[in-house]
Amino acid sequence: MKNDKKNDVETRLSAQAEEFLKQSQIVKAELEDLVNAFEKNVIFSKTDLNGKITHVSKAFCDISGYEAIELVGKPHSIVRHPDMSKEVFKGLWESLHKTLHWSGEVKNRRKDGSFYWVLSKIEPDYNARGEHIGYYSVRENITSKKEVEELSKELENWNAHLEEMMTERIKDIILLNKDIKETQKEVIFTMGAIAESRSKETGNHVKRVAEYTKILAIHCGLPEEEAEMLKLASPMHDIGKVAIPDAVLNKPAAFNEDERKIMNSHPQLGYEMLKHSERELLKMAAIVAHEHHEKWDGSGYPNALKGENIHIYGRITALADVFDALASDRVYKKAWDLEHIMALFKEERGKHFDPRLVDIFFERVDEFLVVRDMFVD
Ligand SMILES: [Fe+2]
Ligand SMILES: [Fe+2]
Repeated sequence: MKNDKKNDVETRLSAQAEEFLKQSQIVKAELEDLVNAFEKNVIFSKTDLNGKITHVSKAFCDISGYEAIELVGKPHSIVRHPDMSKEVFKGLWESLHKTLHWSGEVKNRRKDGSFYWVLSKIEPDYNARGEHIGYYSVRENITSKKEVEELSKELENWNAHLEEMMTERIKDIILLNKDIKETQKEVIFTMGAIAESRSKETGNHVKRVAEYTKILAIHCGLPEEEAEMLKLASPMHDIGKVAIPDAVLNKPAAFNEDERKIMNSHPQLGYEMLKHSERELLKMAAIVAHEHHEKWDGSGYPNALKGENIHIYGRITALADVFDALASDRVYKKAWDLEHIMALFKEERGKHFDPRLVDIFFERVDEFLVVRDMFVD
């Protein structure tokens, strides 16, 4: 009876032992699976206290291109990329000595020379007795992220470079534009002066006409920029005279009918010279040359235009040109006094000249006189 009981206990114990063994085998298999998965997927390494590698995972070998046997026993610097500064590793060891931890981004070099980036976390490693025997490190592959970062940095640099280049180019263009404008101004002024000098006018005549046109343009409401352009274009009003024969142009006596016809062709001739230009300033000069002898009441030439059918540029230049012819000394005549000139303008208001411009002239006569006295022949 006693023996039966003993046998019964032994049977139960052995069944329990068997069950326990079975369970522990299952747990062991599960643990092995976990370790295998860890080895396969986690970039993991262990080092001794001096940084010499004691273990690497399969994932470490896969990413670095080395066999485990090539790594174990070597210093960790075997995968160090030359792009990484020594300062980073100095900081790493300082941190490990002080806190036993470190984490940061590291660029590593593969066996084949190419690179990969990891986010590395280093922790202390202890043996079963609790002694600190080294470090283990777990890494995340961040190569794609870093490549994107590097690309956008390059893109940023390139953008900055491009912007710099554009700024330089714009500066060049502005300078060139300024230069072209200056050249245009000079050419137009010189052409105007040539035309005037052929007919015994002085260079100061075109300078004064230029200033008078600007005063009139501003006060009759043209925008500042347009008024400035008209100032530049108006010296060309008599450019057509370069095509008038000397014998007519400088005839000391009065013209006969044919000579008058030739002389009066200078607006048309000037217009023909300038009309093909695409340049805003020369287009303006063409209008000025063409219409500066038209009169408000339609009695002018070459087209007997009337009132506002005459371009404002023509009307303005007409008044400025006549004022200067009267207000300054000429080789053949003395300047008129102001009172005399004012009387004439009053008389010609609405006949020769646009009445609105005559009104502006009367209001601004002081400004006209300043210009007259500034450019004395
Ligand atoms: Fe003229
Ligand atoms: Fe003139």
